[in-house]
Amino acid sequence: LLIGMPEMRQSSLVVVANRLPINDNVALDGACEWRRSPGGLVSALHPLLRHTPATWVGWAGGTGPAPTLPDVDGVRMHTVPLSSEDLRDHYEGFANATLWPIYHDAVEQPEHHRRWWDAYQRVNQRFAEATAQVAEQGAVVWVQDYHLQLVPGLLRALRPDLRIGFFLHVPFPPPELFMQLPRRAELLHGMLGADLVGFQRAQAAHNFAQLVTKVLGLPATDRRIAVEDRIVRIGAFPVSIDTAEMAALADRPEVADRARRLRHDLGSPEQVILSVDRMDYTKGIEQRLKAYSELLEGGHVKVRDTVLVQVAVPSRERVGQYQILRDRVEREVGRINGEFGRVGEPAIHYLTQPFDRTELAALYRIADVMAVTPLRDGMNLVAKEYVAARVDDAGALLLSEFAGAAAELSQAYLVNPHDLEGLKQGLLAALRAEPADVRARMQAMRAYLREHDIRAWARSYLSTLDQSGLLLTRLGG
Ligand code: ADP
Ligand code: F6P
Repeated sequence: LLIGMPEMRQSSLVVVANRLPINDNVALDGACEWRRSPGGLVSALHPLLRHTPATWVGWAGGTGPAPTLPDVDGVRMHTVPLSSEDLRDHYEGFANATLWPIYHDAVEQPEHHRRWWDAYQRVNQRFAEATAQVAEQGAVVWVQDYHLQLVPGLLRALRPDLRIGFFLHVPFPPPELFMQLPRRAELLHGMLGADLVGFQRAQAAHNFAQLVTKVLGLPATDRRIAVEDRIVRIGAFPVSIDTAEMAALADRPEVADRARRLRHDLGSPEQVILSVDRMDYTKGIEQRLKAYSELLEGGHVKVRDTVLVQVAVPSRERVGQYQILRDRVEREVGRINGEFGRVGEPAIHYLTQPFDRTELAALYRIADVMAVTPLRDGMNLVAKEYVAARVDDAGALLLSEFAGAAAELSQAYLVNPHDLEGLKQGLLAALRAEPADVRARMQAMRAYLREHDIRAWARSYLSTLDQSGLLLTRLGG
């Protein structure tokens, strides 16, 4: 990361997201250092904004007063503080224990507490006020994700001169699930403060239009909604990655060397299966482990020939459901290794550390099968990163039908992760696929991602939001 000194100024482009692209991290020697935050939102926006005169409004992790941060790669960091109550009730509570499960098919039970809603409103108000301060007259403001759904409405009240966009990185649920939310009308109203509401998939935009009519009685199509004297546009803008950057990284000689060493350290197996997830119950980690364990038990795969590398970086660690998941995953990994591993030859290599991009690229390069099998996922950028990293056109992507990426990467080996037999068959099919078939699929997916990269996403979203085209020129679009 290139870090420069802060400058007080207003910007013509302001990105507002719960997290800043860097997080403080306490190193082993006790020193505090700043690291890129893991997660899809930062992976998508960070390469896009680099060297753009923009401001990023967000939380720097931790509680207490907001630290003053220097610019990162030319982008101004404007920190919004969270108190320990805000962290508990806004971030861990309303965002990640009410909205997150509802938006992901309620695969875990959502909780509702009035105190959490109060915190959500309070924190959204704070973000809106911070944004109002740093946005130039007539600026474009791009609000991100489910933590900040009230910001568009609150910001419009403070600064009617702004052009406001909202983008939801996670799925937007069908009406029968969203209707459970006690404050559903307020949440929809908040989003409608934007000029453009973007989703990952067309189905999500459709769900939103239906809800706006059902809950608020507003006339809506899947493209436009009339709100008082304004038109709010809605649409699908599937997010992507910096394809060229990942391909160039994966093609570097040191990454190829690291990949060779990794494969050797894994015992030079014939085939490596890789999964890279945040430790989240939406990612289908338990189902995947069960499928792998049954394949071992049935003798369909053998430990010396095939290994599974499961990277699962801990996430939202104080939320009860995440603690339970981690315990269950770790118990199951222990059981499978105890039952099927041998001395020096575990069945599963289980890693919970954050890795730098070089190490991730090397891991992608050794994965004969990349198993991305979430129960529900807005997009899943790991699937796209894997494809971009396979500059050799090899490697099979096993992909859940319930990841947003499946709508675009249709040449992947698609599976339903709720169907254990189907998941086992899918894994076997990917492991045993003919190299020519694997190659043809990978080539098609790589060609798609070369065109549909993060810049194409920004171009398509921002040209719909800001029809003057000024912003795109600044982003080099
Ligand atoms: P989500 O947004 O739910 O976290 P995505 O798959 O869309 O899921 O994005 C995850 C991002 O986090 C990817 O860019 C991936 O490379 C990164 N990531 C995942 N695990 C790690 C890890 N262990 N170390 C560093 N980055 C990681
Ligand atoms: O879009 C999913 C998301 O909540 C992103 O906002 C973020 O990039 C990622 O998951 C990681 O989550 P968190 O910010 O809670 O660590």
